[in-house]
Amino acid sequence: MLCRTLIRATSNMASRSIRCTSHRMCLTKTTSRDIHENRKSYKESDSPLITFQNLVEEDMTSFFLDIRQVLESDVPLLKDMCFYYFDDTGKSIRPKIVFLVARACNRAVHNNSSYVTEEQRKVAMIAEMIHTGSLIHDDVVDMSSMRRGKCTVNEVWGERNAILAGNYVLSRSSHLLASIGDTEIVKYISTIIDDLVRGELMQISPSTTFEHYLRKTYRKTASLIANSCKSVALLSRMDAGQVEGMYQYGRNVGIAFQLIDDLLDFSQSAEDLGKPANADLRLGLATAPVLFAAERHPFLNDLILRRFSRPDDVERTLNAVKDSDGLEETRLLARQHATDAQRYLGILEDSDEKEALFSIAMALVDRVK
Ligand code: FPP
Ligand code: MG
Repeated sequence: MLCRTLIRATSNMASRSIRCTSHRMCLTKTTSRDIHENRKSYKESDSPLITFQNLVEEDMTSFFLDIRQVLESDVPLLKDMCFYYFDDTGKSIRPKIVFLVARACNRAVHNNSSYVTEEQRKVAMIAEMIHTGSLIHDDVVDMSSMRRGKCTVNEVWGERNAILAGNYVLSRSSHLLASIGDTEIVKYISTIIDDLVRGELMQISPSTTFEHYLRKTYRKTASLIANSCKSVALLSRMDAGQVEGMYQYGRNVGIAFQLIDDLLDFSQSAEDLGKPANADLRLGLATAPVLFAAERHPFLNDLILRRFSRPDDVERTLNAVKDSDGLEETRLLARQHATDAQRYLGILEDSDEKEALFSIAMALVDRVK
């Protein structure tokens, strides 16, 4: 409520950074100039994920401004809500991977020219829009109040508005998809939305099996990267085997990414995560560290099935995970997927972009945020 009042109070100002005092975090309303500044400070960061930033510099230059243009609306409330996360403060790992795959594929089939086509650029934008739209909805489902260090859309503008904002982002991404004019690409991209919804539903039903967890993880996280990589590879006119290889690269990177996300939920502070720590357990969700820990502490299976709903369940689970190899095994599994992703790059000719994709796969496993 406080967040809502605060952001409304600033809605006529060009750019503001204000205290979201209920969470002691900063809530920012961002303008185009801020996006430029955000990009500068991000470049100065020393994350291994940005070592290869120069390869996609051109692609990312007006990326978020272009998305904002697609989301342009004459309804101020809709515009404020939809622009909110497209502020270039995140890692933007999805579009960067999509651009690198597009460039690596283009080099392989277009006489060493890596030039990203308009259609491939649209795929990267669509991927980011679907991702963000789904997060706006996810925060309603999870009743989350913080994301990326700021108040969520539902916290600022309320749940009903957040649902509508997510729908609008998704509908504008569909518009962009239609403008590509390729039914195969429409099939791949709509599969992502299908998977996101199925994955979210799978997450609601508790299970103690790794099979369920990994299928859910594919649907909620990996499908988006996998099908986006597949789409740009197809647009590059690679052959069917190479397109499948790029899909597999994205699939494995996506699973590795989510395994590490699930691990960090146990090992990092709320400040580092930009959202509450141990959120998964508190939402009743059993992720890889718990499933591994349950092999050593079978009592966890009952807690998983009742979604950690009794008073001491979360605490007991945290202790059991600590007293197990759950975190190490999760990282090991992520590393295996990253290695598999790297293997699929073998179908590409050598290039800087291929090297970047190779390094990024493992850097995602070694990240601490
Ligand atoms: C983050 O999950 C959420 C997702 C990856 C997808 C959520 C999908 C939906 C809500 C359904 C589909 C909606 C649309 C608009 C396509 P998380 O809660 O595990 O991660 P978090 O910690 O970042 O919230
Ligand atoms: Mg969530």
